[in-house]
Amino acid sequence: MKVYKFFLLCLFLLSLISCAQVSNPKNDAVAIEQKIEVLLSKMTLEEKLGQMNQISSYGNIEDMSRLIKKGEIGSILNEVDPVRINALQHVAMEESRLRIPILIARDVIHGFKTILPIPLGQAATFDPKVAEDGARVAAIEASAVGIRWTFAPMVDIARDPRWGRIAEGCGEDPYLTSVMGAAMVRGFQGDSLNSPTSIAACPKHFVGYGAAEGGRDYNSTFIPERRLRNVYLPPFEAAVKAGAATFMTSFNDNDGVPSTGNSFILREVLRKEWGFKGFVVTDWASATEMINHGFAADPKDAAMKAVNAGVDMEMVSYTFVKELPDLVKEGKVKESTIDEAVRDILRIKFRLGLFDDPYVDEKKDTVMYAPSHLDAAKQAAIESVILLKNDKEVLPLNASVKTVAIVGPMADAPYEQMGTWVFDGDKTHTETPLKAIQELVGNKVRIIYEPGLTYSREKSEVGVAKAVEAARHADVVLVFVGEESILSGEAHSLADLNLQGDQGTLITSLAKTGKPVVTVIMAGRPLTIGKEVNESAAVLYSFHPGTMGGPALADLLWGKAVPSGKTPVTFPTTVGQTPLYYAHNNTGRPADGTELLLSETPVGAGQTSLGCRSYYLDAGFKPLFPFGYGLSYTTFKFSNIKLSANSLKKNDTLGVTFDLENTGKYEGTEVAQLYVQDKVGSVTRPVKELKRFARVTLKPGEKRNVSFTLPVSELAFWNIDMNKVVEPGDFGLWVSSDSRSGKEMSFKVVD
Ligand code: GLC
Repeated sequence: MKVYKFFLLCLFLLSLISCAQVSNPKNDAVAIEQKIEVLLSKMTLEEKLGQMNQISSYGNIEDMSRLIKKGEIGSILNEVDPVRINALQHVAMEESRLRIPILIARDVIHGFKTILPIPLGQAATFDPKVAEDGARVAAIEASAVGIRWTFAPMVDIARDPRWGRIAEGCGEDPYLTSVMGAAMVRGFQGDSLNSPTSIAACPKHFVGYGAAEGGRDYNSTFIPERRLRNVYLPPFEAAVKAGAATFMTSFNDNDGVPSTGNSFILREVLRKEWGFKGFVVTDWASATEMINHGFAADPKDAAMKAVNAGVDMEMVSYTFVKELPDLVKEGKVKESTIDEAVRDILRIKFRLGLFDDPYVDEKKDTVMYAPSHLDAAKQAAIESVILLKNDKEVLPLNASVKTVAIVGPMADAPYEQMGTWVFDGDKTHTETPLKAIQELVGNKVRIIYEPGLTYSREKSEVGVAKAVEAARHADVVLVFVGEESILSGEAHSLADLNLQGDQGTLITSLAKTGKPVVTVIMAGRPLTIGKEVNESAAVLYSFHPGTMGGPALADLLWGKAVPSGKTPVTFPTTVGQTPLYYAHNNTGRPADGTELLLSETPVGAGQTSLGCRSYYLDAGFKPLFPFGYGLSYTTFKFSNIKLSANSLKKNDTLGVTFDLENTGKYEGTEVAQLYVQDKVGSVTRPVKELKRFARVTLKPGEKRNVSFTLPVSELAFWNIDMNKVVEPGDFGLWVSSDSRSGKEMSFKVVD
């Protein structure tokens, strides 16, 4: 009997050890590295270069299959048919010599079928859970057709709304973008990259793309290393820390060096300093675009500069396969460099589990537009909407409103409402404000629908007149305006940020009826809407809210939900103020509000009489709405702000507590924000920097004590010596509802 028990004990111990081995990520990583070496040792140079080659899918599957058999393709983007994807994978796994699976990629930026608010809208929620949940929904839907890699999150800091791609990122602030971008990485990649619903994330566009001069897409940038490190790099470093599997280079040249040929950012920063172990893909043909830049002489030169700088995979321009064999022969590119690139690519394919099972279950019940996905999209849309104005509490609409006029080109625009970077979302699934309002209150409220303008750029006196006539018969006018989807996104920069077409005229005409006008704006960027804000009783701003934008707006308009969004970017009063952002330096002559504007300037004014300050004679220096701004149907009061210490050492942690009270009559959510200013540095420092934020939901009358902790180490910045340090000295601190309000507190950091 004893032997039997001993035998059972051994069996039990063995099972424990084997489980530990299976579940031990370290062992998995070691096993993967071993598999990579075995595979690499068998690969010809051509097969290695094939892994570094990505094509964009084209109709003819036979041609793609032929290339896969040859081992000439490592990845395919823009293939979304599961049957075709499985067929291509079968060719790779059964007919190619080394049976290496294909990595299928797609731009799933803010949803695959179920479309979330555009990332700028998700940023307006200041809610990383919304971003993570949204990315998870996107990953579940995209992986269901065989996509296992997305080119997101876009974490480019953008401070110029003329740039159409401001829509795709998380706004102007490095801390907000870092938090939201890391959440999206977690959402896309899930708990484990080899889960069948996980897709590899790809933070982009590395780096500095959002600083395109003049806000004109693809334009040059001039970002010195210190600003690169203090502003543009942090969100990418946060994404690496969140485990991002891949990176994408940006189109722009920074100070003359295109990112796709920039070894400083790709090797020094990304790999050496941050320890990134994934792989780097170019942007669309950004390798050969180095020829246009005048940085490469020809495709061969472009291939050499990209690979030697640290690029692993080339998107669609095909120079790696064609040019690298000779470059290796000529000793201009070492085969060891190629091997490193292939290791990086194979590592991600192994971690995704593609070698074990690259196939998608074609028979699985659809997960597209699942109720839980639509719920996540609606919640994101609700939290993303920003209440900019609400005079005489015209919102939320109540039972006294018997007739509403719903007008404007965005009231029932299912495609436009989804916003930019939507390839697979189906507009027939979009719930528009018109439909949602009809569903929500249709039998209790008379709805008069007259779009007036049929699209955002339309000019039509007749249309405006018809909308105004409808308004005359209503208690309240709900006007939905903004931008068609095509007006923001890649290559869609604007030099004028006013509402397009006759939308501005429409709102002016509606206001003249004397009826209260509630303006709802759906756009891909902040627009210069000062006139319309003045003419409206209330304004809701909704960065293209996606599939469920209609129900979200209907709930907000009728008070089933309460607005909590905050501006993730500064709203300029006029395009001439851009770039305009809250975390600006003070300058030697900061505007202090005493300056004279044109309207106040007397004829014959003396040369120095207007105020020698940093401002515009015709636009002052204040934004229309600052960063972090947004109202609620209720009101909140910050009080009793306390710091854990007034003098701290560099390895201390600052505690900040404060009371937040709901002083209004609706339950609501405030986004409490913590800003810090380093008063004196070895280089000039921003007047404020966001360091913490939290969404706090309170019932009417409820008061809660809230706390933030801020390690002093997070006050570090790249200083005059280009070292990342915390410099001792005085600091300002604000806890407030936006970047311009709040009482200043102070503390010191001592050596
Ligand atoms: C585009 C974009 C990039 C996108 C890629 C693939 O030009 O710049 O963001 O992921 O090509 O579509």
